[in-house]
Amino acid sequence: MKVTVVGTGYVGLVVGTCFAETGHTVRCIDIDEDKVASLNEGKLPIYEPGLEELVHRNLEEERLTFTTDLEGAVADCLCVYLCVGTPRKETGEADLSFTLTAAEQVARAMTGYRVIVNKSTCPLGTAKKLDELIGGITSHPYDVVVNPEFLRQGAAVDDFMRPDHVVIGSDDVRVQEIMKELYAPFVRTGKPILVMDIRSAELVKYATNAMLATRISFMNELANICEAFGGDITHIREGLAADSRFGTSYLFPGLGYGGSCLPKDVSALAHIAKDKGLKCDILDAVGVVNERQKDMFVERILGFYGDDIGKKRIAIWGASFKPKTDDLRDGPSLKLIDALIKKGSEIVVYDPVAGPRVRDRYGDKVTIAEKNYDALQDADGLAVVTEWNEFRRPDYSKMASLMREKVIFDGRNIYTPDMMKELGFRYFSIGRQAV
Ligand SMILES: NC(=O)c1ccc[n+]([C@@H]2O[C@H](COP(=O)([O-])OP(=O)(O)OC[C@H]3O[C@@H](n4cnc5c(N)ncnc54)[C@H](O)[C@@H]3O)[C@@H](O)[C@H]2O)c1
Repeated sequence: MKVTVVGTGYVGLVVGTCFAETGHTVRCIDIDEDKVASLNEGKLPIYEPGLEELVHRNLEEERLTFTTDLEGAVADCLCVYLCVGTPRKETGEADLSFTLTAAEQVARAMTGYRVIVNKSTCPLGTAKKLDELIGGITSHPYDVVVNPEFLRQGAAVDDFMRPDHVVIGSDDVRVQEIMKELYAPFVRTGKPILVMDIRSAELVKYATNAMLATRISFMNELANICEAFGGDITHIREGLAADSRFGTSYLFPGLGYGGSCLPKDVSALAHIAKDKGLKCDILDAVGVVNERQKDMFVERILGFYGDDIGKKRIAIWGASFKPKTDDLRDGPSLKLIDALIKKGSEIVVYDPVAGPRVRDRYGDKVTIAEKNYDALQDADGLAVVTEWNEFRRPDYSKMASLMREKVIFDGRNIYTPDMMKELGFRYFSIGRQAV
């Protein structure tokens, strides 16, 4: 099948490449000329494990091309995937301008029947809007389908290749068959393709992210209760995880969720519900608790050093919002770095892949260390922000010998208080007693 993917970001690049990997002819479009040029040279603009090899193979075998020529690509395909960004506006609602512009461009370029698949996360009613917009521009036949994406950055290729489920929002049997044909190679182990009405398909993506965010905020709130009363959140998590009614995922406390999806999707869902006159107390609270958790971590560090914070050198391990990605968007590291810059602290950041993005954002206000231990040289404290594997079992004596003050603020609970005590570190984690 010939597939055009509009938007070659974290989602579009993975989707297009994985479709090409199963034999389809895929053209990925982006308005960013530099991105397209570097992709055509096989250089990836993002870090995503396993993706580079797939891009290279499919480029070489000419199943995958990158171009800015949307018109040409749409003129010669059956399916057009919209994978552009839907960022959060200041008001909290989803910014649909990229989606609407892309749909308009697609409509103008159509030369015959097309299946237009919206993969971007968009509020209920967007597919209808797209339908009306496209219908007002083109006289060619088309169908609009909603096919939300559930991949996780850091595991995106695997998630797309082996999804738990695929959601297709369409009432048209012929379109459903085209979509099933596209996804057949990915669900051979019997994972379900859930066909539903368009509005439910739009909502199920928001519901998923809101559920994940709720679990995280719930655990963070419990963690704070543990700290106040002397419990240990690790045991609370173990108790919940052992109960088959709950499952084990997303029960880890931390310094708040970030990324391009959870924060914006929770607020976008609340926004559309409120527009309908509904109350969204749970969603509102989830967002509030999350921001408070990020603030709590920052305040803990500032509070520890008091008025001396401006004279301190603080090392930060991990800047990406989660491991195995270089994405900083809405990550807890940003609040911490912003606050430390404001206080005049010296900041040294080490992240296995996100260093260049931190440099792009902060310039010379922050030093980027090339290696994890380099960041610790003469540091007055270490903040662990992202739980990259290489931080989990470091050489503690080397850490102690490099640091000026042996203080660790562990936002991911990757070390144990007992061990930290034995090693002589001052140690602050989430939902456990300070050492
Ligand atoms: N990132 C994730 O993990 C994830 C997971 C599931 C769903 N989603 C959703 O998928 C959508 C895309 O997210 P993303 O993280 O890939 O965004 P992104 O910002 O990484 O990529 C979007 C890309 O679209 C391009 N673009 C914008 N307008 C365009 C146009 N008119 N024509 C061609 N290209 C255009 C941009 O240049 C950019 O490269 C969002 O709605 C997001 O909520 C994201």
